Amino acid sequence: MSETQATEARTFEPPQELAAQANVGPDVYAEAEGDRPAFWAKAAGRLTWETPWDEVLDWSNPPFAKWFVGGKLNVAYNCLDRHVEAGHGDQVAYHWEGEPGDTRTFTYAQLTEEVCRAANALTELGVQAGDRVAIYLPMIPEAVISMLACARIGAVHMVVFGGFSADALASRITDAGATLVITSDGGYRRGSASALKPAVDDAVERTEGVRNVLVVKRTGQDVAWSEGRDLWWDDVVAKQSSEHTAEAFDAEHPLYIMYTSGTTAKPKGILHTSGGYLTQVAYTHWAVFDLKPDTDVFWTAADVGWVTGHSYIVYGPLANRATSIMYEGTPETPHRGRWFELIEKYRVTILYTAPTVIRTFMKWGADVPEGFDLTSLRLLGSVGEPINPEAWLWYHKNIGGGRCPIMDTWWQTETGAHMLTPLPGVTSLVPGSAQHPFPGIAAKVVDDEGNELSDDSTGLLVLTEPWPSMLRTIWGDDDRYVDTYWSRFGKTVYFAGDGAKKDADGNIWLLGRVDDVMNVSGHRISTTEVESSLVGHPAVAEAAVVGASDPTTGQGIVAFVILRESGTDSGDELVQTLRSHVAKDIGPIAKPRQIMVVQELPKTRSGKIMRRLLRDIAENRELGDVTTLTDSSVMNMIKDKLPAAPSED
Ligand code: WTA
Repeated sequence: MSETQATEARTFEPPQELAAQANVGPDVYAEAEGDRPAFWAKAAGRLTWETPWDEVLDWSNPPFAKWFVGGKLNVAYNCLDRHVEAGHGDQVAYHWEGEPGDTRTFTYAQLTEEVCRAANALTELGVQAGDRVAIYLPMIPEAVISMLACARIGAVHMVVFGGFSADALASRITDAGATLVITSDGGYRRGSASALKPAVDDAVERTEGVRNVLVVKRTGQDVAWSEGRDLWWDDVVAKQSSEHTAEAFDAEHPLYIMYTSGTTAKPKGILHTSGGYLTQVAYTHWAVFDLKPDTDVFWTAADVGWVTGHSYIVYGPLANRATSIMYEGTPETPHRGRWFELIEKYRVTILYTAPTVIRTFMKWGADVPEGFDLTSLRLLGSVGEPINPEAWLWYHKNIGGGRCPIMDTWWQTETGAHMLTPLPGVTSLVPGSAQHPFPGIAAKVVDDEGNELSDDSTGLLVLTEPWPSMLRTIWGDDDRYVDTYWSRFGKTVYFAGDGAKKDADGNIWLLGRVDDVMNVSGHRISTTEVESSLVGHPAVAEAAVVGASDPTTGQGIVAFVILRESGTDSGDELVQTLRSHVAKDIGPIAKPRQIMVVQELPKTRSGKIMRRLLRDIAENRELGDVTTLTDSSVMNMIKDKLPAAPSED
């Protein structure tokens, strides 16, 4: 068994002051355990319903769940109007900052008006409840306004991350059957204006059914124009009335589709609905981040084109009347301290981001955050991949000043909201583990047959009870929904696709996707464990590990590492040192067959390392689809580093 992830023996108790005033205390677990439906009903009661539900959960036809059956609500009303009606119209909903440094501020009253105008505009363009609207925008306020305008009129939004190709956009527009696309001329990234509209023009050419393209002016760059089809946002939206009466929709009315890549080439359109989704994103946002609407300044540093943005930039924070930050650009523009500058400027109290960003900050060095006043921060969050203890401790010390608890939240596009996480006023934190199922969530670690495993054995993570924000299906493909998630262990057990183990204290450790669990000479070794060991070495900033097929051992471990900038020698000697380091850390079985020092790793737009491509390189195969890469030249750089044959021991 590996000790790598347990090498950090310290645990971190909740800060006393936080625990004393925390939104949820320790009793919440027992309460939820005692009566799960009653617990979620209470969480749903934090929202405003036009018609109360008759039944909390209908699970009579698994895996097709219905939550809050018969209930009706309007999601946008819950995010906006009700706060204004309660006298909070002047509270800031978003402090938005563009990459070039321009700013816009929206109070709840202003945001409500903008959303009403946009809702009236969509209606004028013929968009009706149930219609699908594609949103392809940079991180500008109109992205949020468009999403909420759709929600307000019951249209289903389908946000496509602004960095995706025309190809990816076209296939999503077709699969979803979108009739309207909302885009902009361009957006700012890495110091320059990058165009978006050409990709939309190209995509719409190749699809049928798009009647209009609504274009927000962001950069002012030239755009091609299709008369009759293309409309400027300012022309259509600005003239609308700022009054709009929100109609209540069924709790199970579709809210949005978000495409996510699966193991096959065709992306899956994950469908989320209204009442259950909003219940769980709002409740988790309030409980996990201990959100205090009157005093906190909340920042999810992610893109709205990702589920994290949907749940924790838009719906959760707005439902809780949070004041949030929204930032358009990249962390290093115009300098590496940009995020820290924003934290200082807006006195951010809660920061939620991904481990890959933290490891980038580690690479840049602690002196960058040291140059800014980060004392406003009181709580930190992590999402997207396992956070190795090394990065956790660095984040805790160098960004959190040693005083901010870190919420390592495990969840997926499919789960809609947090599923495994500590609670800030309750949990003794164990760096590197997402720890416990959230109250009201049932998770287990099982073997291939679905039997619950004893402590410390590696298995598969499953969810054994339905939850309010669960996906309802894959858009247009119920069979694929059942096959992908609910067939391995029967129709009531959700297979998450992640490897996990539970330690003797009941903490759950995520070990990466199961297709990333390597099998070396009959031993299961997680890519994450080896990565964690590698980044635990002072010379390494970031590491990606894959299992490449090996004639002798089944799979051989191949590691790609980025070194820290402190100028360590990248020669053979270091490679041998690192191999021995891993062997010592985990066991000789985990000693990488090969370690390649590279400048960059191929990542998806949401920051995940594309192990599939690395595996192709390690096995010298033709490369698969690279359309979702942030920079396909990364692959060439890595290929250039590839030795002719694996290095011998
Ligand atoms: C991984 C992102 C470990 C996991 C919200 C999951 C994590 C996939 C964590 C979903 C975490 C996410 N610890 N692994 N805290 N959070 N993951 O759909 O493999 O982009 O299955 O949703 O990310 O990624 P997705």
